[in-house]
Amino acid sequence: MSDFTLGVNIDHVATLREARGTTYPDPVGAAVLAELGGADQITIHLREDRRHIQERDLRILRQTVQTRLNLEMAATKEMAKIAYEFKPDMVSLVPEKREELTTEGGLDVAFNKDAIKEQVRFLKDGDIFVSLFIDPDIDQIRAAHKVGADSVELHTGAYCDARSGAVRAKELERLVDGAKTCYKIGLAVFAGHGLNLHNIEPVASILEFTEFNIGHSIVSQAVFVGMTEAVASMKRAIAEARTKTKQV
Ligand code: PXP
Repeated sequence: MSDFTLGVNIDHVATLREARGTTYPDPVGAAVLAELGGADQITIHLREDRRHIQERDLRILRQTVQTRLNLEMAATKEMAKIAYEFKPDMVSLVPEKREELTTEGGLDVAFNKDAIKEQVRFLKDGDIFVSLFIDPDIDQIRAAHKVGADSVELHTGAYCDARSGAVRAKELERLVDGAKTCYKIGLAVFAGHGLNLHNIEPVASILEFTEFNIGHSIVSQAVFVGMTEAVASMKRAIAEARTKTKQV
């Protein structure tokens, strides 16, 4: 029995489809293959501008995903309504800006406490597990706990994008501190953004993390080795890092 969940984000299969306005490649097919490769969860981000995943994908994936469906979305009323209609197993609330290439920073829960609290309560009332995507910052973690989130996903982007060893070490330390704080206060803690086969080991070794959400690198790898193998190799890399950590 594995001590972690691998959520595979298949947004960029839809990015390829939308680039040409075709019906292929279909993220629904990608989800089947990802699950065959060992994905424990399928993650999709239905963005306000619908640049990749469409409501059609959400509707079909809700019916076909055999594991768990995690819907990333902005904390808006429109999206909350959609979540209620499709009932994903989990919602990850993320900040969203139209101009950004990808989710650039974590949610500012500390600053928007009341609005986020209301959104969390609404989704939880609908029997949906709610996670908040935040920077590895102690104030944000405490705020997420206060607003009643079931879990937080710590943004690993700053660690992944670090250009020097010193900055990378500092960012890794923030992730370690953040994960330990969550563990201490009883808040489930996940990791995601920018993770790939080259940078996963130190993050996967933080045993407090119980879930990893990885998209771009797995879809990129899938172009060369196929989706099933791309997922399986990431799953192996995480499992090996954790086994090694437990042995020392
Ligand atoms: N987690 C969250 C909350 C995200 O917004 C994203 C990107 O959609 C990911 C994880 C996956 O990031 P990446 O595609 O860089 O692996």
